[in-house]
Amino acid sequence: MTDVDSSQMYARPRVAVIFGGVSSEHGVSCLTASGVLAAIDPNRYDVIGVGITRSGRWVIVESDAIAKLEVTDGRLPELSEDAADAMLVRSAGGSELAVRSQSALAQLGPVDVAFSLLHGPFGEDGTIQGLFEMMGVRYVGAGVLASAVGMDKHFMKLVLSASGLPVGPFVAIPPAEWRRDPAACLESVAALDYPLYVKPARGGSSLGITKVDDQAGLEAAIAFAQRYDPKVIIEQGFVDARELECGVLADPAGGRPEASQVAEIRVHSESGFYDFDAKYLPEEQVDLDVPAEVDGDIAAEVRDLAVRTFEAIGCEGLARVDVFVTRDRRVIVNEINTMPGFTEHSMFPQMWSASGLPYPDLVERLIRLGLERPVGLR
Ligand SMILES: Nc1ncnc2c1ncn2[C@@H]1O[C@H](COP(=O)(O)OP(=O)(O)O)[C@@H](O)[C@H]1O
Ligand SMILES: [Mg+2]
Repeated sequence: MTDVDSSQMYARPRVAVIFGGVSSEHGVSCLTASGVLAAIDPNRYDVIGVGITRSGRWVIVESDAIAKLEVTDGRLPELSEDAADAMLVRSAGGSELAVRSQSALAQLGPVDVAFSLLHGPFGEDGTIQGLFEMMGVRYVGAGVLASAVGMDKHFMKLVLSASGLPVGPFVAIPPAEWRRDPAACLESVAALDYPLYVKPARGGSSLGITKVDDQAGLEAAIAFAQRYDPKVIIEQGFVDARELECGVLADPAGGRPEASQVAEIRVHSESGFYDFDAKYLPEEQVDLDVPAEVDGDIAAEVRDLAVRTFEAIGCEGLARVDVFVTRDRRVIVNEINTMPGFTEHSMFPQMWSASGLPYPDLVERLIRLGLERPVGLR
């Protein structure tokens, strides 16, 4: 393959939208891709859809096929494995996409910016961001370290508390410690008050999470979380806390990041928390208030905390920060998501829309931030 200068050959910047992936949030990412694709102005950008199948293969997915990725009969979409292998190939000025056509490589042209819509491990956790760095590709959103810290609820809480930000009590159970001495791990949990939330440390979409009301349920909940991630985190539950979220966006002019309007999630699901079904298969299980009905001082505190959380992990581009407001009105950070749910109906775009930035403009701003960001250490 020869090096191609995209400014000469292509009139518009070429955006590789990358979605699907090997994590348990494959289907959610496919839904996001179909929303994002519909929002990108084809007069401004050329979009190339790059799907990652459940087995981890990269494939090119045509725009009309992406548009058809939707929930059918309550089931999330899944990418077909039946396609030629696609790949990134490093060139002097960046990277190009190619597909394997029998034993040869067919060139698909350069990538000006990668927009990864992958959720969860091997996508939202710094791994694909590392690939982009190695391949000299500009990309949207958080870098390697911020992605990894944002993904791992244990290290996230360590970094946030070291930065003086409020997080709840927790205990981490790394796999080596569990193998060496499970009794000591269980003993360490005794420092927490029930109810507990037992979670895969690097999960998302509430998959693998159990609310545990007493000690009898603890070991089963740990085993369940370990099916999603060998590393588990156990958190003290906030009882009757309100659950608020806030979007953060980097400022293209280089100023401090901006916080969106604050939203609230009010859950009525059987599990009593914002679980997977309430997130993606909503049948009156959840009310999303955008903006939230909260006092101005609480909203201001949430927005300030969201920006400080974004900065504490060295985030770039975008993030959604989720907090609890306790009964005694303390605001506690639950988590930061560096690739939040991103369909048009997801909280992050809804919060920005309520803040005066409609979905297509949000997508445009993120692509622009990615295109303008230098490659390499910054
Ligand atoms: N410490 C906690 N106290 C009360 N509710 C919690 C706590 N941790 C999680 N939850 C509930 O579980 C949901 C999912 O947990 P979260 O940590 O956000 O995982 P995920 O990364 O999968 O979204 C939250 O939205 C909230 O409803
Ligand atoms: Mg969450």
